Amino acid sequence: MVSVLFVCLGNICRSPTAEGVFRAVCEQHGLSGKIRIDSAGTAAWHVGKAPDERAIAAAKRRGIDLTALRARQVVTSDFSDFDFILAMDQANMNDLERCQPEGCRCQLRKILTYTHTKIAQDVPDPYYGGDQGFEEVLDLLFDAATGLMTEVKTHL
Ligand code: 4NP
Repeated sequence: MVSVLFVCLGNICRSPTAEGVFRAVCEQHGLSGKIRIDSAGTAAWHVGKAPDERAIAAAKRRGIDLTALRARQVVTSDFSDFDFILAMDQANMNDLERCQPEGCRCQLRKILTYTHTKIAQDVPDPYYGGDQGFEEVLDLLFDAATGLMTEVKTHL
């Protein structure tokens, strides 16, 4: 079993979308049950809440159901519980590096290091923008999901 944690700021837009996209891609490739997938936020503002309704709607248009997800904050044990911790942007990465315990062996990276297109290094925060931002998040995350799956498969 390989475990993957997606991390953004609030855990209501980008990282739950990443969780849903990666779960769908893993299912398509018959890897369900072999990969543990979760998401969390560096901030606690939205703990316990469902994903943003715009994220739910955008994911639904691509056949992905995010309604059951609930936000949580990153905890120190995540660094030992997960093999991969994938940040959505550089600010998330900086926050994670700051609270990463000494000797942690997880792979801490930005999710877009796995894209094919390499058009962006950070998944833009869509929270204060319009619906198009949520489509862009999905485009970037679908692109990264296949690259990530190839990497994760080498650890199974
Ligand atoms: P996320 O987006 O980090 O992709 O979940 C945000 C959600 C909420 C806020 C900022 C970003 N906020 O300021 O409440």
